[in-house]
Amino acid sequence: MSEPFLQVNAVTKTFGGLHAVFQVSFQMNAGEIIGLIGPNGAGKTTLFNVISGFYAPNSGKILFKNLDISGKPPYKLARLGIGRTFQVVKPFAGLTVLENVVIASFVKYPQRRKAEKHAWQILEMTGLVDRANVQASSLTLAGRKRLEVSKALALEPTLLLLDEVVAGLNPTEADRTIELILSLRSQGITILIVEHIMRVIMNISDRVVVLNFGQKIAEGSPRDVAKNPEVIQAYLGEAPQ
Ligand SMILES: Nc1ncnc2c1ncn2[C@@H]1O[C@H](COP(=O)(O)OP(=O)(O)OP(=O)(O)O)[C@@H](O)[C@H]1O
Ligand SMILES: [Mg+2]
Repeated sequence: MSEPFLQVNAVTKTFGGLHAVFQVSFQMNAGEIIGLIGPNGAGKTTLFNVISGFYAPNSGKILFKNLDISGKPPYKLARLGIGRTFQVVKPFAGLTVLENVVIASFVKYPQRRKAEKHAWQILEMTGLVDRANVQASSLTLAGRKRLEVSKALALEPTLLLLDEVVAGLNPTEADRTIELILSLRSQGITILIVEHIMRVIMNISDRVVVLNFGQKIAEGSPRDVAKNPEVIQAYLGEAPQ
């Protein structure tokens, strides 16, 4: 059998005395969509930040295509093919939508003409062509989230980490983003998605990993995880015993 695409092995990340992520392990196969869920403060974004190199783990290892990437900086991981969006979207507000994506495209295409061509192709895919020449700051939340995905795609990732790209969108916008995610997967991109909206997670994930207070409390098919008593309890907000 081929090696897992991504292996997260007993990863811990602490802030002061707080275990934001504690001994979390899971694996992803190429082409999978894994949903990462859990209540507020469960450690989802922190785990993203560790996988994408924004934080080094205190302990544990992350292997990407069998290469130990633990603690490597984000720009190196981006070059290896790991792209991510930010939960709090941060475009260069004074630049246009196109310029934002061109800047990201320079990493792969140092020539301006090629970077621009690439950026247009991405905007086509993410449905932002009509907004290409407006200032990023004038986009709606849905537009800003699409721009965030566009910037991540400009780096041509093979592993894409999406942090709450659907939260806050209306149902029509949410459906369009779900379609986009599924089309990215059909292009061969492996996707780890954090999302609070259960409809999204249930519809698109092959498997779901559940965090609570930094620890993995469940993993399985969306259907099994939704029935898991510990998961239900975590979502009902009961204090741990
Ligand atoms: N830079 C930081 N410094 C100190 N504590 C932090 C830092 N980042 C996160 N934390 C803490 O770590 C824990 C996990 O936070 P994290 O943002 O990873 O949760 P989350 O699951 O993404 O939550 P949400 O659903 O609200 O986005 C929280 O208790 C949070 O307050
Ligand atoms: Mg978060």
